[in-house]
Amino acid sequence: MAKQIRIENVFKVFGDQPKQALDLVRQGLSKQQILERTGQSIGVFDADFTIEAGEIFVVMGLSGSGKSTLVRMLNRLIEPTSGRIVVDGQDINGLNDKDLRALRRKDISMVFQSFALMPHMSVLDNTAFGLEMAGVDKGTRQKAAQEALEQVGLGAWGASYPDELSGGMQQRVGLARALASDPSILLMDEAFSALDPIIRTEMQSELLRLQESKRRTIVFISHDLDEAMRIGDRIAIMKDGQVIQVGTPDEILRSPANDYVRSFIKGVDAAAVFKASDIARQALTIVSEHNDRGCRAALRLIEDSDRDHAYVLNARRRLLGVVSAQSLRDALHGREGMLGLQHAFIDNVVPIDAATPVADLFGPMASAPCPLPVLGEDRKFLGVISRTTMMRFLDRDTPPVPPPQPVQPPVTLNPMFPTGDADTPAMLHEHSDAPATDKENKHE
Ligand SMILES: Nc1ncnc2c1ncn2[C@@H]1O[C@H](COP(=O)(O)OP(=O)(O)OP(=O)(O)O)[C@@H](O)[C@H]1O
Ligand SMILES: [Mg+2]
Repeated sequence: MAKQIRIENVFKVFGDQPKQALDLVRQGLSKQQILERTGQSIGVFDADFTIEAGEIFVVMGLSGSGKSTLVRMLNRLIEPTSGRIVVDGQDINGLNDKDLRALRRKDISMVFQSFALMPHMSVLDNTAFGLEMAGVDKGTRQKAAQEALEQVGLGAWGASYPDELSGGMQQRVGLARALASDPSILLMDEAFSALDPIIRTEMQSELLRLQESKRRTIVFISHDLDEAMRIGDRIAIMKDGQVIQVGTPDEILRSPANDYVRSFIKGVDAAAVFKASDIARQALTIVSEHNDRGCRAALRLIEDSDRDHAYVLNARRRLLGVVSAQSLRDALHGREGMLGLQHAFIDNVVPIDAATPVADLFGPMASAPCPLPVLGEDRKFLGVISRTTMMRFLDRDTPPVPPPQPVQPPVTLNPMFPTGDADTPAMLHEHSDAPATDKENKHE
């Protein structure tokens, strides 16, 4: 079971006069001034937040901002100066040595940026090393180590030696070592930072996959905002020992708490973070239960609303097709009477899945004959993305995303009603299974 971690008014001062240093912080002196005046170093100042069970919680901040100090207090590798750390309801500051060892062995594992694998020990023994230190018998620890290696895709490498493994694989062994005790909490201090970008991305995916198969509470320190955005359920941003903002990646991008946070997110590759559904805009929609009706009415509607396209949906908001003023005129050209909308559907409109990262939209947008429809769960129509939307997104200053827009009710084309009233509220959501008549044509 994943466990919750509550961090309550936690302070850490390095030095023998913590009270003096904390008083000066309260008077508004900077960390640097306090260090110069007293020789005391503020590691963490009044951290107060909760890490929820089962989430990946990323801690970010510049070098020296207190990330490692904060995380090491969670398993008491560093003792807090004051405050409480409560793991699953238990105040860990109150644990005696024996219980603390048990906590580190069973509940909390730590993965570091670089840790030495023992060159003369096999990968399996390296993985089992922590368990061996904890006094677990050989059979049990080897079985657990083998399972952990399998979880990180190294099941076949147990008998190899570290120098036969690539850097990325060695880092996986580090992760396997942490997983071998099947901890409910994983603390990862820059665990992927030494890896090259491709392997790093692979490891991030690996972590997300592991999280799917078994949820742990993961506290992950990173310098890299793209990494934080990719894997973090929530992110804390630290500066000079203080936690400046805690929020989901979205919250932090949309409303950064101050300039420091803003300067952090400036460099973020927003196109990799945001999804098609984040930038989709509302469009003119026509609900047509029977798509064999309505070219003239649709043309009128498009012209009246000063749009170029309309998206034809069925009553369950599934996309049937896209029409434009031009395609409707072309379809109607030289034809008398009633003509179904499907005769005017534009070809080659490839809908976009809502979860597609904006970065992957350039190709589809380049060749799109119209703003592309974005489809969510059950292929429901969510809105559209135009080339202009893309340009605005790329050209933006932070925050990168327009505020969510109210959903416009679709217009229902229904031959039982005169099209001149098409946008009166009484029309909306009215559907009729009455046979098509050419009534609408009389109003054209
Ligand atoms: N053992 C220590 N003795 C004195 N000061 C310390 C000690 N450990 C950390 N500090 C100080 O506490 C502050 C926070 O350090 P910490 O290592 O937590 O930063 P960090 O955010 O992890 O930085 P980095 O990104 O470089 O790893 C720094 O000013 C550091 O100098
Ligand atoms: Mg650190």
